Amino acid sequence: MYLSTIFVAVGWVFAGVKSKPLPTSQSHAITSVLSRLTEYYHSSPNVTEGLFDQSISPWWESGSIFNTYMDFAKYTGSTKYKALVGEALVLNSYGKAHDFFGTDHEFVSIVVGRWNDDVEWYAQAVVAGAELYGPHTYMPGLRGNGTWISLAQRTIDEVYDYWTPGCGGGIYWSTDPAQYATYKSGITQLEFISLATRAYLLTKNGTLLQITERLFTWIVDSGMVDLATGTVFDGVDTVGCTVSKAQWSYSYGHLVGGLSYLYRATGNSSYLTYASKIATTAINIFAPDGVAEELCEVTGSCNQDQQGFKAIFLRQLSYLYLTTHDQELKSNISTVLQKSAEAALATCDASWNCEGDWTNGSTQVYPAFRSTHLVAAALVALEGTTKQ
Ligand SMILES: *[C@@H]1O[C@H](CO)[C@@H](O)[C@H](O)[C@H]1NC(C)=O
Ligand SMILES: *[C@@H]1O[C@H](CO)[C@@H](O)[C@H](O)[C@H]1NC(C)=O
Ligand SMILES: *[C@@H]1O[C@H](CO)[C@@H](O)[C@H](O)[C@H]1NC(C)=O
Ligand SMILES: *[C@@H]1O[C@H](CO)[C@@H](O)[C@H](O)[C@H]1NC(C)=O
Ligand SMILES: *[C@@H]1O[C@H](CO)[C@@H](O)[C@H](O)[C@H]1NC(C)=O
Ligand SMILES: *[C@@H]1O[C@H](CO)[C@@H](O)[C@H](O)[C@H]1NC(C)=O
Repeated sequence: MYLSTIFVAVGWVFAGVKSKPLPTSQSHAITSVLSRLTEYYHSSPNVTEGLFDQSISPWWESGSIFNTYMDFAKYTGSTKYKALVGEALVLNSYGKAHDFFGTDHEFVSIVVGRWNDDVEWYAQAVVAGAELYGPHTYMPGLRGNGTWISLAQRTIDEVYDYWTPGCGGGIYWSTDPAQYATYKSGITQLEFISLATRAYLLTKNGTLLQITERLFTWIVDSGMVDLATGTVFDGVDTVGCTVSKAQWSYSYGHLVGGLSYLYRATGNSSYLTYASKIATTAINIFAPDGVAEELCEVTGSCNQDQQGFKAIFLRQLSYLYLTTHDQELKSNISTVLQKSAEAALATCDASWNCEGDWTNGSTQVYPAFRSTHLVAAALVALEGTTKQ
């Protein structure tokens, strides 16, 4: 809606689907939106140490946002947010405890409410730090107490403790025995695949790859993922081994990203074939006109968690873009990332107040904080396509 303003303000130019270095205005847009986002980290009156304002954002979402900053650092070489994100990850892993579940796992699970999928967002940012700064480098700050890779490995082991043979395998979602204790949510498995595979690429610890490939086999055998159609469902309830059929953009996106890493780890091209199929299905469902939209946006019914999913969808598509050599697939992904970033940016005014609703079909209302992250993630995801 502020389209003309923004075109005048930053002279946004799109180069078509063939990727080439983006215009300076692109880097200006990214740094401006990320700066805006960072204000919620630093200056909110309700900010909790190391987090975005907890009155407007669930804990997991901060972990997802730290991944956006990490991707930004990776794609641009910028060290601007290195200290902020490093500190945040140390604080959220309870400083010297060097553990996202702290020293009292039960308390953190039940009272604080951290579950396996939640801690895996943070651990993925940690593994990104290991990739960027060296796995055996100590995490920054006086309060840290260990290396990037040791925190990633610890989290992997803690989460994997919730693998059970029920319904053939899989990891439980909840760490609170009183809530959703029988559900193996898809996102818990899909995050694990990325996390453990990226850790494997850094450590060459063969056990990590072995358990990850076993987990991938399980998500297919359980019916949660249908490789023939490229469909990804929400998860499996171990009562009756029933598949819950809700579909979310981040499940598709995350599996596409995870399979890209599995291909890098194994050289097995089957993983890329699956990723391509799933990405094509995902684009048809969540970006039929090229602009990302969660299905619940049409009825304006996305809850605060669901509102953040398409940020993950877009960022993970970049991982496949950077992995595949299939030019048609790259072009398909590039179109989505460009159109989404363009539509996202078109909602911004000259002061970089943006909106999370980018399509004509959507009636979703987004709070300013989440809108800012969604736009930042779309721009960062697009930046990934300039790397190759
Ligand atoms: C901060 O928290 C208080 C109490 O929960 C709330 O009334 C207030 O609106 C919050 N302020 C912001 C900026 O979120
Ligand atoms: C730092 O980590 C080590 C190894 O995990 C642990 O033994 C030690 O107690 C930690 N230090 C503090 C101050 O908690
Ligand atoms: C290798 O990975 C497995 C599974 O996560 C873990 O139990 C083991 O401790 C790891 N080995 C090392 C040396 O970190
Ligand atoms: C590649 O992965 C597929 C899917 O998991 C598997 O069926 C196949 O055996 C693997 N191929 C090799 C050569 O390991
Ligand atoms: C690219 O998108 C077109 C149009 O949706 C589709 O038919 C084609 O299969 C896609 N190609 C790849 C490699 O994903
Ligand atoms: C919304 O509708 C307008 C007018 O029909 C069209 O020009 C525009 O491309 C549409 N935007 C999206 C994101 O579909």
